[in-house]
Amino acid sequence: MAFNNILTSSANGIMQITVNRPDKLNALNLDTLLELGQAFEDAANDDSVRVIVLTGSGEKAFVAGADINEINQLSPMEAKDFSALGQQLMLQIENLGKPVIAAVNGFALGGGCELALACSIRLASDNARFGLPEIKLGVIPGFGGTQRLVRMVGRSKALEMTLTGNPITAEQALQLNLVAKLFNQTELQDQALKLAEMLAASAPIAMQHILQAIQHGADLPLDAALEMETQLFALCCSTRDMHEGTSAFLEKRAAEFTGR
Ligand code: COA
Repeated sequence: MAFNNILTSSANGIMQITVNRPDKLNALNLDTLLELGQAFEDAANDDSVRVIVLTGSGEKAFVAGADINEINQLSPMEAKDFSALGQQLMLQIENLGKPVIAAVNGFALGGGCELALACSIRLASDNARFGLPEIKLGVIPGFGGTQRLVRMVGRSKALEMTLTGNPITAEQALQLNLVAKLFNQTELQDQALKLAEMLAASAPIAMQHILQAIQHGADLPLDAALEMETQLFALCCSTRDMHEGTSAFLEKRAAEFTGR
């Protein structure tokens, strides 16, 4: 599929996906949502892709939200489908089985914030801004933002952010553990790629199981989550990568993981 709204490239186990509507601050219209869904499906199906880096074009925005021009025209039934499509994309990213690094290079508002929240790790530039400003448009977040934000930053801050609609700075996002690390704007992409290279050299099946244990386990009762962890730990022990990783340690050499 040829893409009109996103850019993709793959090399050395890393797929880069860039939302590419800089004149609209990379706002997510319907076509962009569909193209992102296709790109992430391609990433999931391609065994050579170990890690995905997601960012936005230009110097101002990661993604400034769902496209307000389209929201303005939605009937209630179309709004239901639009919300379901956005939620499906976020679940697809969360359940991809491969780490997705969001390189948040500016505004991450509304659907852009929701997109970042669905990624496995968020790195941000110092000019990044995170917010769910939907209240200012007379709506609520519809791509999972109310639910993922409360799980990430707690009820009090999630209510403040969604009821006021006011964005927070990159520094505040760091303090809330909403982002893992901050960088200068000029350094962000290199740093995201550096992290991606590290993850791409790691054991893919173990990474997949870590993603599952943490993404799903966090919402389960502790006993069920611990049982899941045990099952996933045992599954890792059926892989060649487990033998390679443990042998490499004992033989004092670097491990070479194959994803088997
Ligand atoms: N949907 C559609 N278009 C958007 C958009 C969105 N979510 N966010 C920005 N744009 C467009 C603007 O309409 C403008 O287009 P134009 O040049 O054709 O008029 C262009 O992107 C540049 O944005 P502009 O508002 O001029 O930039 P700014 O630097 O003055 O302000 C923001 C930046 C992010 C503060 C502002 O664009 C904004 O508030 N955007 C909407 C954020 C939002 O509510 N997101 C949630 C949507 S559910």
